[in-house]
Amino acid sequence: MNTRTTRSLRYTTRLTGFAAIAVAGSLALTACGGDATTEKTSAAKTTAPAADSAPKIEVTGAFMPEPAMADMAGGFLVVKNSGAVADRLTSVTASAFSGKAEIHETTADGKMKEAKDGFPVPANGALELKRGGSHIMFLDVKKKPKKGDKVAIELHFEKAGTVKVDMPVEAATHNPQQHH
Ligand code: CU
Repeated sequence: MNTRTTRSLRYTTRLTGFAAIAVAGSLALTACGGDATTEKTSAAKTTAPAADSAPKIEVTGAFMPEPAMADMAGGFLVVKNSGAVADRLTSVTASAFSGKAEIHETTADGKMKEAKDGFPVPANGALELKRGGSHIMFLDVKKKPKKGDKVAIELHFEKAGTVKVDMPVEAATHNPQQHH
């Protein structure tokens, strides 16, 4: 237990540096993104408007299982891209909710690590963040969320810019079946 705690603290500390780099990177992208940084918000579905030559991003099925720990939470969602151009989820922020948010992948042996290059969103395809796989990790959570709450998060895409999502908090065991 002690060893594990120490290790996870060290892990967290190391990730702080990565998160800072990720944030700086996304700010730079936003600054020079021009008209690519359009934003649109709605409770259930969020779509970034796009031309034919751009990805068409839609976020569905977002949820956060009510976390067991006070300062850490996970989040899941599906990013659909109906455009003919691929995109990339480069980072996630949720500044009102947590000190930092990261995108994690789960390795074959069940450990998770930060996806520092982001996740590809294929053209005419989808990126699925789901239990047991890739996910959003919220660290330094400011107030432990409860079922029924909604958490405002921002997904940052290489081409589609920022997409805001209200992520509902569900029961700890919630695990929807995704059909496509
Ligand atoms: Cu994680």
